[in-house]
Amino acid sequence: MTRWSHRHVLDLAAFSSHDYATVLELASRFHALPTAGARRLPALQGRLVTTLFFEPSTRTRSSFELAARRLSADVQSFSPASSALSKGESLLDTARTYVAMGSDVLVVRHSCAGVPAALARDLDQAGERVAVLNAGDGLHSHPSQALLDLFTLARHFAPEAPSPEALRGRRIVIVGDVLHSRVARSNLWALSACGAEVVLCGPATLLPQSFADFVAAPPPGQEHDPIAQRGSVRLERRLEDALPGADAVMTLRLQKERMRQHLITSLESYHRSYGLNHQRLELCGKPVPVLHPGPVNRGVELSGPLLDDSSCSLVEEQVRNGIPVRMALLYLLNG
Ligand code: NCD
Repeated sequence: MTRWSHRHVLDLAAFSSHDYATVLELASRFHALPTAGARRLPALQGRLVTTLFFEPSTRTRSSFELAARRLSADVQSFSPASSALSKGESLLDTARTYVAMGSDVLVVRHSCAGVPAALARDLDQAGERVAVLNAGDGLHSHPSQALLDLFTLARHFAPEAPSPEALRGRRIVIVGDVLHSRVARSNLWALSACGAEVVLCGPATLLPQSFADFVAAPPPGQEHDPIAQRGSVRLERRLEDALPGADAVMTLRLQKERMRQHLITSLESYHRSYGLNHQRLELCGKPVPVLHPGPVNRGVELSGPLLDDSSCSLVEEQVRNGIPVRMALLYLLNG
């Protein structure tokens, strides 16, 4: 029997080693299912999954909706532009409207950190049985993305048995706009929980020194760290110092929409210092995989030829792996 104690999935800081192992194990099972022919499992038949995206999304929303359909759930999507939000309805009342229609899971994305958690708290207090799944909130957290990154890396290192153990002692370099990245924050919790050695790389404007202590203590409101001993986190300013010895490189999008001031001089100069291409990748000393959560600024974070080279780019693999990982999360929350 799967042991699962979370009513909602809001932040990976609360995940135990057992939680990571459970998600990866279930995702592996869903990943192994045939993708042609009859590919629906009856697990969530009669359940309703609602995606509430207050921020744009290409991958995450479609991936959650596909995952829900593959488990035979009904799916309903909310679009802020055409909703009664523009008539002044509050966020909580909007959510309760979908709960009144029978929603079992709300998949929520919002540009403000803390919105999914606040909704979950208010719905709990109102006695509603609905589960809230955070699909990205401001700069704070993006649990399903970090879990699919973890699954992708675990499958790369241990294709036969992808588990959190496959990450132990691996050096994972995360390069780019860490400051504005909820993906990087969630990956810091996930990778350190699995015993990986994380190297963060970027200029001081996009990677403040304080990130060295990011996983040193649980976030406010969480009393203890469920992980007894986390892997290490270190910072490097130059890619040339970060790459030697890396086992994988995760690149991050420059989040121009979240930058309130000029934090880089130009995209060209960023690419010169932090952009990854085949030649730079050789600094790792061996062939290593490259990841990016997407959307990619082609020629900025990654050169076009590297992005398109499936012998080292796992970017499309990440997109594919998002579906079984989100199936696992929806399945667990509907337990
Ligand atoms: C990420 C996000 O929205 O945080 N994208 C995604 O979910 N695949 C990363 C990004 O937007 O750069």
